[in-house]
Amino acid sequence: MSNRVKEKGLEKNMTYQFGLIGYPITHSLSPWIHGNFLERTSIKGNYEIIEIDPALSFSDEMMKLKERHLNGFNITVPYKEKVLDYLDELDEQAKHIGAVNTVLCKNGKWIGYNTDGIGYMRSLLQKYPTLTEKKSSNILILGAGGAAKGIFYALLANGYKQITIANRSVEKAKDLIDGEPNSMAMTLHEAQQSLLQFDVIIQTTSVGMKPHADDMIISLDALKEGAIVSDIVYQPLLTSFLQKALSMNAHIHYGHTMLLYQAQYAFEIWTNERPIMDGLDEALQKQLEG
Ligand code: ATR
Repeated sequence: MSNRVKEKGLEKNMTYQFGLIGYPITHSLSPWIHGNFLERTSIKGNYEIIEIDPALSFSDEMMKLKERHLNGFNITVPYKEKVLDYLDELDEQAKHIGAVNTVLCKNGKWIGYNTDGIGYMRSLLQKYPTLTEKKSSNILILGAGGAAKGIFYALLANGYKQITIANRSVEKAKDLIDGEPNSMAMTLHEAQQSLLQFDVIIQTTSVGMKPHADDMIISLDALKEGAIVSDIVYQPLLTSFLQKALSMNAHIHYGHTMLLYQAQYAFEIWTNERPIMDGLDEALQKQLEG
């Protein structure tokens, strides 16, 4: 672990107080994941669901949150952008993305991070370590929303350059690329027509999520041999998109692993400890299926 990461964290031997803000979040898996991390690292702490009704004044709720003196908290829909106004500092990734999913509360300051992109990269490289050396991989991102943004910047930060972003509204994909050399934007139809050229295909939209589990953003009728097909949707675990990829002998990457690794990075920001992940993937699958 780098010294920079070490400096960010808090004292050991204390009982950490963490939370999650968002709405609706009563079914969130984050308490389960962070509960596992606390157990695995033998760190004392609690992770609480703090649901904030959008009908309430967000600034009043933020004042109340400050008074709780948490050590850190996660932010989910619909507050990832709204929380920006209440932060004292912002890390590079979060600045780029314009959204925050993790806050470290330290010395009275709130410092914002976005762990989605880095978490996604960790999950992908953990499953396919040889990709680490294949920086010239031709990568297709489907979608140009918040999740796509995080993944795009994390890919660039990891040295990948040949990245195509395909989106329903192509203008949004163009905006995201913003002159990045070797990257290009295209329509979903164009992406479907040129699938054979991609080594890695990453589905970043909510298309295919329950209760619309039969939907697929594009059809996968021709894939390059050895292609990796990834979907960030994890409900269902095996989306129609991944099922189709499997039927075409592609390698697949499940969305729930991104959930685990973005949480791992958040936990690391809060505590300086990187929890061991052995067996968690399967345990989370059981939670999701249960
Ligand atoms: P998130 O932050 O979860 O990524 P978002 O910022 O609302 O969510 O982005 C949603 C993405 O899913 C967008 O790329 C959106 O395409 P548009 O920009 O054209 O709206 C994409 N998306 C959502 N529903 C879609 C659908 N039915 N077909 C194709 N793309 C869809």
